[in-house]
Amino acid sequence: MAYGALDGTGLDAALRRRLAALIDEGREIWERFDREVRRHEFHPFVAADYERVLATLLPLRRPGLRFLEWGSASGVITIMADLLGLEAYGIELDAGLVEIARGLAARHGSGARFAVGSFLPTGYEWRSPTRDSRLGTIGRGPSGYLELKRPLDDFDVVFAYPWDGEAPIMRDVMRRYGAPGARLILHGQPDETVRRR
Ligand SMILES: C[S@@+](CC[C@H](N)C(=O)[O-])C[C@H]1O[C@@H](n2cnc3c(N)ncnc32)[C@H](O)[C@@H]1O
Repeated sequence: MAYGALDGTGLDAALRRRLAALIDEGREIWERFDREVRRHEFHPFVAADYERVLATLLPLRRPGLRFLEWGSASGVITIMADLLGLEAYGIELDAGLVEIARGLAARHGSGARFAVGSFLPTGYEWRSPTRDSRLGTIGRGPSGYLELKRPLDDFDVVFAYPWDGEAPIMRDVMRRYGAPGARLILHGQPDETVRRR
């Protein structure tokens, strides 16, 4: 990605260069993962449109804002949030991806923090309007908040890129466990940004 593509964002040249390098490496990681893993078996990691996510995050920036990515995969978006000055955390079920995310953070001079685990709080049960408790493509595992040492209601902004059917579950988790006034960004959904009252 040419860092000139970030012209007009109001970001200084050094930060634009860092973000462009992060997005480039993030795309390479995703293409390799797609080739080496996803072509052989189903894996829920599909990369978001990083430039669009960046455009969504830019107006939300303010010092001290705490950001959490649900299903952080290779870590690109959490690291992006950290480089933009947010206090950024990611939770991801696949330990191999968390290792990749930590390596990416180290190479890009980011203090983004990652936990292996589920973004679902301990004891969370989903009940759809038809009383269905299946989670679909959302995986199960020990909750990741303990490792982060922060509960969900410590976060001001939560980001996720949901598969079909996941968005209602994510909204329910946020409604029941999120902080009042926190923002949920569901990438690719028609009502992408929802503020919880
Ligand atoms: C669609 S990908 C999104 C990746 C990344 N957020 C992005 O936007 O580029 C969903 C990710 O969520 C992870 N995942 C699935 N269930 C999870 C759970 N219960 N807790 C944490 N991560 C989960 C998958 O392993 C996958 O990496």
